[in-house]
Amino acid sequence: MGTARRTVLAAGAATAAGLAAGCSGGGGGPAAPAASAPESGSATGTATAVPSGSPSLGKELAKKAGIPVGGGKVFTAEKVVVTQPTAGEFKAFSAVCPHQGCLVDKVAGGTIDCPCHGSRFRIADGSVEHGPATRPLPPASITVTGDAVLLS
Ligand code: FES
Repeated sequence: MGTARRTVLAAGAATAAGLAAGCSGGGGGPAAPAASAPESGSATGTATAVPSGSPSLGKELAKKAGIPVGGGKVFTAEKVVVTQPTAGEFKAFSAVCPHQGCLVDKVAGGTIDCPCHGSRFRIADGSVEHGPATRPLPPASITVTGDAVLLS
């Protein structure tokens, strides 16, 4: 009666646990991170921001309507005086007095006037009307386009 049932659990002895432990942990060869980042650009870029204006045309000095007929206007920062001797005729001269280098400061009575020693220059051509200056105001270059007077 004693049937000793032995359930032999075959301890899965050595099943196919051969586990061919392929020794794959050897010398680290191919572990190089293939990071081939192009390390050229984007560091200190030489990108100069070019304003999208047209560089060939000069800065606008004034609207034509801002230059009185028979008179003119002094642009101190640009050292230029723009005159309109007759309607629609624009002239420009250096605002630096050829006498001793002061800037002329006003246009009145048909002349461009220097405050330093009283020289006066004609608005039509910059020639001397009253000394002590002996040389005319040098011409300056402007472009009249549309309704604007541009420095050129
Ligand atoms: Fe203009 Fe002398 S500098 S008059």
